[in-house]
Amino acid sequence: MPNQKLDQLKEKKEALKLGGGVKGIEKQHKNGKYTSRERIEKLLDPGSFVEVGGFVEHRCVNFGMEKKKAPGEGVVTGYGTIDGRVVYVFAQDFTVIGGSLGEMHAAKIVKVQEMALKVGAPLIGINDSGGARIQEGVDALKGYGDIFYNNTIASGVIPQISVILGPCAGGAVYSPALTDFIFMVDHVSKMFITGPQVIKTVTGEEVSAEQLGGAMTHNKISGVAQFYDNSEDECFAKIRQLLSFLPQNNLETAPDFEAADDLNRIDEALNTIVPPNPNKAYDMKNVINSLADGGEFLEYQPYYAENIITGFIRLNGKSVGVIANQPNRLAGCLDINASDKAAHFIRTCDSFNIPLLTLVDVPGFLPGTGQEYGGIIRHGAKMLYAYPEATVPKVTVITRKAYGGAYIAMCSRHLGADVVLGWPSAEIAVMGPSGAANIIFRKDIAEAEDQNAKRQEKIQEYTDTVANPYIAAARGYIDDVIEPSETRKRIISAFEMLAGKRESRPAKKHGNMPV
Ligand code: HXC
Repeated sequence: MPNQKLDQLKEKKEALKLGGGVKGIEKQHKNGKYTSRERIEKLLDPGSFVEVGGFVEHRCVNFGMEKKKAPGEGVVTGYGTIDGRVVYVFAQDFTVIGGSLGEMHAAKIVKVQEMALKVGAPLIGINDSGGARIQEGVDALKGYGDIFYNNTIASGVIPQISVILGPCAGGAVYSPALTDFIFMVDHVSKMFITGPQVIKTVTGEEVSAEQLGGAMTHNKISGVAQFYDNSEDECFAKIRQLLSFLPQNNLETAPDFEAADDLNRIDEALNTIVPPNPNKAYDMKNVINSLADGGEFLEYQPYYAENIITGFIRLNGKSVGVIANQPNRLAGCLDINASDKAAHFIRTCDSFNIPLLTLVDVPGFLPGTGQEYGGIIRHGAKMLYAYPEATVPKVTVITRKAYGGAYIAMCSRHLGADVVLGWPSAEIAVMGPSGAANIIFRKDIAEAEDQNAKRQEKIQEYTDTVANPYIAAARGYIDDVIEPSETRKRIISAFEMLAGKRESRPAKKHGNMPV
C-alpha cells in the first residue's frame, strides 16, 4: 500500500483523537473534567477499547454548519472489556460543539445500543452535553427519540449504566432516567429538565445549578441517581465494582467469585445486636457487613430513603441483592421513598437473575397526611407487586419487628419467600404490643386503679402471647427460628439449596405495576 494512504489514515486518526482541539481539551481539564477518551481509557481494561464509527460526520447545512468540523460527531463510541468481560460504551465529547446531539451523533449511540443488545453486553453511556444540537432542529429530537426507544427495548435485557459527567439538561435527562443505574460526581454532574435561568423567569425561584441538579441533589433529595462519588476516578472504580455483581444479560447469572470468606463463619456479635428495649435502634448495616463475604457491600442509593437499605453483597462468591429495614432511620418504617427505592431495586435484581435477601425489622408504614396525600397506598403497593413478581430465589430473615402490612410487604412467605428464618427476637404481629394492648384491653386499663401498671401488664401479656416468632413458626410461615450468630451459614445454605429454582408465571403481555 502506498505510504501516502497510510499516512493519510494516521493523520485522520490523530485528528480524531484531538476531538475539538487542544484548547477544548485544556478547557475540559480546567473545569476539573477528563476528556471523553480519557474517561473511556480509565473506565475500561487498559488498551481494550476499540472505537467504532470514528469517521461519522454530521450532514447539517443550516446556519453555516457545513463549514463546521465535528471530529467524531461529538461522541466516542465502541466496545472494550471490564475485568475481561465485554461492554459497549459511548462518551459524549464536550470539546466538539459542546457534545451536542445531532442526527448522526444519535445514530452512533443507537448503533452501540443495538450492538450491545445483539451480543448481550452491558452498555455504559457517559453523558457530557449541551443537549439537542440547536442547528439541527427536529433531526436532533428524532435522535433522542430513537435513543429512548432503544433504552426501553433493552431494559431488563442488558444492564444499562448512565454516567453523568457534565451537563445533561432538558429532554436529554430521559435517556439516563430509562436506564438501570445513574452515577453522578460532585460538582461535575448536572441534571435538570429546566435550568436555573428558566426557573427564575417562570417561577421567580433562585437556585444554583449545583443545588438544582447536582450529584447530591439527585442522590439524596430526588432519588433520580443511585451512586454518588467525589471524583471521576472514584466513579469509574465503582462502575467496575457494580459490574462484578451483574451478569452480562438477562439470560446469564452474575460471575462466580472464589469465596473470599468462610461459609460457616459464626458471628457471636449478632446474638446481642438487637437491643432488649424494643424502642432502641441498632445499625442494620452491621448485620449486612457481618453476613457478606469479606464484609463487602456495594450500597445502592445510600443517601436516599435511608430507612431502607439496598445493595449488593456476595455469599460464598455469588452475587445477592439485599433489602433491609434500617431501625436507625425513621425506626425502619416504610414510606413513599423507601417503597419506590426497594421496588426498583427488587425489579433490577430480578431482571438480572440476582437472588434476594430481605432483612426485616419494620414497625409499619409511616403514618401522616404527607404520606397519605403523597400516595403511600400507590407507592407501597409497588413493593407488594415487586416481590411476588420476582422469580429469583428469595430468602427472608426477621430480626425483630414485623408488624402489619409491612410484615407482608417485606418478602413474607405470603408474598413468595422461599425460605423464611426468624431470630428469637422476632415479633410478628398485627401491630406493636403497646398499640395493640391500648386497643384490645382499653376497658381493662380504663377500669384499673393503677392504669399504668395495668397497661404494662397487658403489654407484657400481649408480647408473651403474640409478639414472638413461634406462632408464625407453628403455622409454617417461618421455616426455623435460628441463633443470630449462625445467620450467614444458614442463608448460604438456603441460597445454595435454591440454586435450581425455576418458577414460571402465566403468560401475559406485561403486568400493570402501580406507578
Ligand atoms: C449547539 C451547542 C449547544 C447546543 C453548546 N453548544 N450547547 N451548540 N447546540 N445545544 C456549543 C456552544 O455554542 C459552544 O460552541 C460550545 O458548544 C461550548 O459551549 P459553551 O457554551 O462555550 O460551554 P459552557 O460555557 O461550558 O456552557 C455549557 C452549557 C451551554 C451550559 C451547556 O453551552 C448551554 O447552555 N448550552 C445550551 C443548552 C441548551 O439549552 N440545550 C438545549 C436543551 S433542550 P463554540 O462554537 O462557541 O465553541 C434539549 C431538548 C432535548 O436538549 C429534547 C429531547 C427529547
